[in-house]
Amino acid sequence: MHVLSVSSLKGGVGKTTIALGLASAAFAAGLRTLVIDLDPQCDATTGLGAVGPFDNNVASVLKDPKHAVVSKAIVSSTWGKSAGGFVDVLPGSPKSVHYDTPHPTVRQTWMLEEALHRVEKDYDLVIIDTPPSINALTRTAWVASDRVLLVTEPGIFSVVAAERAQRALEEIRVAITRRVQLLGFVVNRYRPASKEQDFRIDELKTMFGELVLPKYLEERSHLQQTQGAARPIHTWPGEGAVEVANFFTWLLQQVRESFEQTPAEPRFDAKLEKRSILKRLRRGKKSAEKVTIEKAFEILGEEVAEEPEPIDSPLVEQEVADEVVIEEQPEVEPTAEPIADVAAEPISEPSTDTGGWSFKLEIENPGEQSPESNDN
Ligand SMILES: Nc1ncnc2c1ncn2[C@@H]1O[C@H](COP(=O)(O)OP(=O)(O)O)[C@@H](O)[C@H]1O
Ligand SMILES: [Mg+2]
Repeated sequence: MHVLSVSSLKGGVGKTTIALGLASAAFAAGLRTLVIDLDPQCDATTGLGAVGPFDNNVASVLKDPKHAVVSKAIVSSTWGKSAGGFVDVLPGSPKSVHYDTPHPTVRQTWMLEEALHRVEKDYDLVIIDTPPSINALTRTAWVASDRVLLVTEPGIFSVVAAERAQRALEEIRVAITRRVQLLGFVVNRYRPASKEQDFRIDELKTMFGELVLPKYLEERSHLQQTQGAARPIHTWPGEGAVEVANFFTWLLQQVRESFEQTPAEPRFDAKLEKRSILKRLRRGKKSAEKVTIEKAFEILGEEVAEEPEPIDSPLVEQEVADEVVIEEQPEVEPTAEPIADVAAEPISEPSTDTGGWSFKLEIENPGEQSPESNDN
């Protein structure tokens, strides 16, 4: 099983559209696919024909990720069966908004991973549709993911939003898990005749290089129609729909090739993994379960920075990290100035962050222009 999150800090850029398009491509390819709808707006759930109310849904799973709850919550989509494949859905819930706190604890961010550990033999691919922020739900999705696909429109603030999302992902990688990597940025709503858009895409490419995927999803009305009809784009008639379907077939191929670069590891036994991280954090902390990611990043970020070279496998990292003797952490309260809440900042101008957060990243990647996910 491999897990992909489809994210962006902005709403309406096409996260759900891309998630459902990829699900459609996976359906056509005969993959056993699960779509997890983490967005309290539940658009992915609707697009898959799953009509509630659902007593068990993603909110129940985030509350209690045990096997019985997870398997009761997952339902079939109305897409039917393809060659050996199908698409199931873990339905979203407006209640999931209660889990979307701005400063999640380490414990909270492991919940979905723990849930996926229960069903890992049942699916080839899991696609997570995330809400448009970098709060707890998105972070929980990333901790459970192998790859993150960031969706962007070719607009004026896209570079800033993209950079913020990339930094937030790096924070998760340092504080919680090195398994998750940025797959890249996918440009949506492209209009070939727009000079302004081409200019914005050039900006993105200057900043992120090959992380900007080379094909763009164009503005197409079929997408809205298939979503409204809760049908996979791959079964929609007409030439235009075929073009869009081909785009998603190509995009799924990029996703699968990226997955292949790192062999599928069993889902972490989240409990063990969590315990190990918490053990490290607990030195000097009374209740490590209440440590926020920001604090974890602060504590572990320095520790990771001492490692001689980047370590890709989270399991290897675990071994190495466990050998590191950590000085007793003094009983400090979370810093007066926690790491900037990335989502809360208005996306209006290029970041000039020079706070502890960016600084630590520099230590973490000395001399690197951009994070290692660049080699994807
Ligand atoms: N490439 C596209 N062409 C036409 N309509 C699109 C395209 N991408 C997204 N849309 C439409 O824009 C709206 C917002 O897209 P959506 O995927 O729901 O964004 P998000 O999940 O990021 O909030 C939806 O109505 C969707 O159908
Ligand atoms: Mg959406």
